[in-house]
Amino acid sequence: MKFFVDTAEVDEIAELNDLGMVDGVTTNPSLILKSGRDILDVTKEIAGMVDGPVSAEVVALEADAMIAEGRKLAKIADNIAVKVPLTWAGLKACKVLSSEGNMVNVTLCFSANQALLAAKAGATFISPFIGRLDDINLDGMDLIADIRQIYDNYGFETQILAASIRSVNHAFQAALIGSDVMTAPPKVIKQMAEHPLTDKGLAAFLADWEKTGQQIL
Ligand code: G3P
Repeated sequence: MKFFVDTAEVDEIAELNDLGMVDGVTTNPSLILKSGRDILDVTKEIAGMVDGPVSAEVVALEADAMIAEGRKLAKIADNIAVKVPLTWAGLKACKVLSSEGNMVNVTLCFSANQALLAAKAGATFISPFIGRLDDINLDGMDLIADIRQIYDNYGFETQILAASIRSVNHAFQAALIGSDVMTAPPKVIKQMAEHPLTDKGLAAFLADWEKTGQQIL
């Protein structure tokens, strides 16, 4: 499974990128706001840091305006994936932008039928939002599994990009189902390294080591 980092904070991206944990980056207007940076500047900086796709989101509501914004964002760098919302206008923009050779990430997906439409419109990535479905007492993982099944049934090449990942369990479940990509906040990716038995085992080993009176260096 590819790991995208869901942030516009360049320091956090750099730390994970140095460890080989970054296959791409996703941003959205809320993450741009949080960064306090200009969208064009920060997207260019991020795109220069990582080899993989960097999603930058349009904010227009009409298809023609989305296409114009998408073309401008795509010019920032070769590895930009233009992010459009899963609306009828967004699907029109997806079709045009993908036909022009751009990567397109269709975001705010909350149903398998939406994902089916995005694939038919030529989306490179579909972003089902797991955490936000959980927020309204639905199971976001069921959606990932349904999309996986439908895409496999018909051989769609659109990649499932599990988004709104809030926990290590979300990451685990998305991998188990066969999501092509997950995008997660840096905190969640780091938490994947944690286990209480690792901490307990390490403490026991170090206590015994101290009793040997030895040193390695
Ligand atoms: O990738 C989408 C993500 O940024 C949304 O996450 O936690 O705001 O639902 P969240």
